Amino acid sequence: MYFSRTKPLLTLLLAYIDIPLVHGREDFEFNAVAATRVLQQWYNQTTGLWQSTGWWNSANCLTVLADLTAIDRQLDIVTGEVWPNTFENAQKFNLKQSRSPNQCETTVCTRDVRIQGQVQIEDANPKGFLNGFYDDEGWWALAWIKVFDLTQGQQYLQAAMDIFDDMATTGYNATCGGIWWDRKQQHNTAIANELFLSVAAHLANRVPEKKDYYVEWAKKQWTWFDESGLINKDNTVNDGLDIKTCKNDGGIIWSYNQGVIVGALVELDKAAPGDSQLISRARDIATGAIKHLSGRDGILHDPREPNLGGDGYQFKGVFMRNLHGLQKVTGDQTYKDFIEKNAQSIWEKAQKDSILGPVWSGPFDKDHTNAATQSSGLDAMVAAAAVQ
Ligand SMILES: *[C@@H]1O[C@H](CO)[C@@H](O)[C@H](O)[C@H]1NC(C)=O
Ligand SMILES: *[C@@H]1O[C@H](CO)[C@@H](O)[C@H](O)[C@H]1NC(C)=O
Repeated sequence: MYFSRTKPLLTLLLAYIDIPLVHGREDFEFNAVAATRVLQQWYNQTTGLWQSTGWWNSANCLTVLADLTAIDRQLDIVTGEVWPNTFENAQKFNLKQSRSPNQCETTVCTRDVRIQGQVQIEDANPKGFLNGFYDDEGWWALAWIKVFDLTQGQQYLQAAMDIFDDMATTGYNATCGGIWWDRKQQHNTAIANELFLSVAAHLANRVPEKKDYYVEWAKKQWTWFDESGLINKDNTVNDGLDIKTCKNDGGIIWSYNQGVIVGALVELDKAAPGDSQLISRARDIATGAIKHLSGRDGILHDPREPNLGGDGYQFKGVFMRNLHGLQKVTGDQTYKDFIEKNAQSIWEKAQKDSILGPVWSGPFDKDHTNAATQSSGLDAMVAAAAVQ
């Protein structure tokens, strides 16, 4: 934990956040603010990133802060400092990485789910929020879109547009269609393709002068995704495509791959209403994921818990965040119950001193706590607060 530089932020949080303790939204919100205080202990002012986790995870930390700020504007006092600091310093950190190719920085050593810790930054060509891993790029684009929604700062929207340009011009047209996972063109993954679709759909709703352009990309990408075989018979999404056969690779069904596509479809439906298939497919996938990935107690799990590598700690929160998006447009009680139940379980069974563990059904597992597990659990708690 890193206290020294973050002290002013913590003090501000303690001083300004005053939420009455009653049941319902305020409960979840109160606990979420407490968990945010812990998350910010990992925040490094110099890099604008969260210690103990990777480059793309920091985009998700930023995203959950934005989601909580949207429902509790008192947090502006803290997060209003985070946005410009991360915007400026994370880009500098990213650039610096290209100059130290032999050094195994946190950001590249965490790609172990797919590349087993191989350092590939020589091909990454970092610049701004670009690094040649199209999923990483997509996470940052979505994070800055959330910050734009809160602040109306054009620089944040511009950053997301620039990221999308890179994805579309250098990542698109993979051998099996869609977008590559990496600039080296070695993998075609569900996650990069879902994020590409989601960023296009989000931009369509925010850039009026290029709305048609982004809608067209999003529709084209969804048509391809739906036919690609990535969605299996259980209505869940596997990890990727085998680029030799262009068939579903039968890879692990991670919770985040169920979440991002759901959020993308909700956003596309908003940008281009009228196709009832979009929300109905989103429901199929959300329901398939809940069925497939939660235990009899209704608590969400990822395969291999609690050993989730550098990436996996983040996944469940991504699902909850996007399930909340679907709940908002459908009003579905099942989804609301699921969100509340998971948030409650995290707090009652997987938490100590506002530190959140990786296994939401408990017990609290201190050895696997970091800014990724913290922000992931926080996603569920923020969703539960927002859904009230
Ligand atoms: C923040 O990151 C910088 C650059 O990696 C590092 O030198 C510094 O020690 C970190 N600060 C803290 C408080 O951990
Ligand atoms: C993708 O490939 C098609 C067919 O070869 C081509 O027409 C199109 O311009 C390519 N798109 C991009 C973004 O490279």
